[in-house]
Amino acid sequence: YCGIVGFTGLNYQSAPILLKGLEKLEYRGYDSAGLFVADQALGTDQLVKEKGRVAQLEALVGTKNVTGTSGIAHTRWATHGVPSIDNAHPHLSADGRFYLVHNGVIENYLELKQEYLADVTFHSDTDTEVAVQLIGKFADDGMSTFDALRKLISLLDTNSAYGFLLMDRNEPDRMYVAKQKSPLLIGVGEDFNVVTSDAVAMLDQTHDFIELHDGEIAIIDPDKVQLFDADGNETAREPFHLDIDSSETDKGTYPFYMLKEIDEQPIVIRHLIEKYLDNEGGVHVGQAILNDLKAADRLYIVAAGTSYHAGLVGKRLFEQWAGVPTEVHLSSEFAYEQPLLSEKPFFIFLTQSGETADSREVLQNVNAQGFKSLTLTNVEKSTLWREATYALPLLAGPEIAVASTKAYVAQVALQAILAYAIADRATLGFDLEQDLSKIAVGIQGIVDDKETLQQVANQYLVESRNAFFIGRGVDSTVSLEAALKLKEISYVQAEGFAAGELKHGTLALIEDGTPVIALITQAKTAGLVRGNLAETQARGSRAYTIVTQSLAKEGDDFILPDVNELLSPLLSVVPTQLLAYYTSLGRGLDVDRPRNLAKSVTVQ
Ligand code: F6R
Repeated sequence: YCGIVGFTGLNYQSAPILLKGLEKLEYRGYDSAGLFVADQALGTDQLVKEKGRVAQLEALVGTKNVTGTSGIAHTRWATHGVPSIDNAHPHLSADGRFYLVHNGVIENYLELKQEYLADVTFHSDTDTEVAVQLIGKFADDGMSTFDALRKLISLLDTNSAYGFLLMDRNEPDRMYVAKQKSPLLIGVGEDFNVVTSDAVAMLDQTHDFIELHDGEIAIIDPDKVQLFDADGNETAREPFHLDIDSSETDKGTYPFYMLKEIDEQPIVIRHLIEKYLDNEGGVHVGQAILNDLKAADRLYIVAAGTSYHAGLVGKRLFEQWAGVPTEVHLSSEFAYEQPLLSEKPFFIFLTQSGETADSREVLQNVNAQGFKSLTLTNVEKSTLWREATYALPLLAGPEIAVASTKAYVAQVALQAILAYAIADRATLGFDLEQDLSKIAVGIQGIVDDKETLQQVANQYLVESRNAFFIGRGVDSTVSLEAALKLKEISYVQAEGFAAGELKHGTLALIEDGTPVIALITQAKTAGLVRGNLAETQARGSRAYTIVTQSLAKEGDDFILPDVNELLSPLLSVVPTQLLAYYTSLGRGLDVDRPRNLAKSVTVQ
């Protein structure tokens, strides 16, 4: 949670660069935002903070003359303290010498406040202000800024997470950064350097980034970057080059990123085909990964939210295609209640961002026990990418809308590729490359028909208090995802259900007009789901069906092309994404930035 950016370079105005960066980072939080710009020439520093979105901060900055070549900025997702101007970052030390932005949570901030800062007046309720006041105090005691930062870090509870970006008014062109668990990258330029929580925010400036590791500190000047390990010894790391076109992070002509990302799903499938499959049945994921997958007696898929729902599909793929027993676990649960493991477990982490703190906690436990793991993520060089034994890219391109869409599709498809790779191809009897190509075409057909789904959303969901999605087998997992998507961006209370379970309790919620959307893509259970749907209709529900062609009956509503049954989630999820999108739109909400949420969840 929270996004931070910093810029130092002698020949540029920093404020516009910082504001543009913050806009790109808004997916990480949008309760409040702020920036600090140091102006050496004028000797007047500027601190501007505003409650709400980055656009509001930008408007406020526009009314002031914010000049200066270096600065730091922050967009906040509240953890400690309500969203307010006082709680917005940057925070400063008592004498106004140090300015700090922070992404993460300091677990023991109250203890530190009591022990060291009992007589200091605070202006916010944040853990971050405690951190910067401590730096101020240690500097007053005679420490250098570097040592004061190190001392602060040494006092933080080991459960704490931080990405710190600090400026000292006595050194106006210098930035200090430190990180533990929260993501931080240093972007390297010709005559400037930047700091960012996510490369996408600084792609207009540079494509070359150095990743900071846990415990490290860096000192960044316009012309150099000095890196120090946790013991304070100077170290070095070459930048990596990120091959993303900065236009990929723009909305273009789309009203919202989410719609753009839904529309990109056919291309995502094609990218995966190109990278991982060939037209002779070959699969290119690396021999070592295949060996370890094959050697495992049980797979453990670990993920959160939408990625967890993708894992539920993965379980079916690994079990039914490859015959490997597979468990799927919520990372936030697994982290503190590890299930009994098999003799030869192998772990698969699904994470769009590669930064989810809950998932990372599990990965660290898994690493400590010496087990091997594979991360499937959309962000190369992210934390879970780096810390797993193996990592494969989802190739979905930057996903900016808070609600995940194309990453889900990529996760399902990539798990299919892995399951196919370790399955006995002769008994499977299909060619995955052809099947996925068919799916890319199928998704295109659905997104081309979006007006139909807009009408359905307006008719069924926009005015509705609640909604249900039902299905059996793999369709029940898509129902969970469909319900999550609808709740998170439209605030309609939605539930996804294994259709047969309704009658065991939830049927009591069905009233006159309650929308019930049935997903029917599995021949074996199609009749049963229809029966369950009829039971809701008998109690007044408004039924809507999403059905594959060969299972369709007269009166069905949305018809999907026939595809390999276990791959049907790749198609059936798409109309549900569009229903959620248009419901949110119809309710006049900010589709990309639903209330209370942020995209990259770096707190536990
Ligand atoms: C919902 C959504 C979240 C994420 C979850 C895990 O639309 O995006 O549920 O799926 O926070 O995030 P990653 O995949 O980045 O680990």
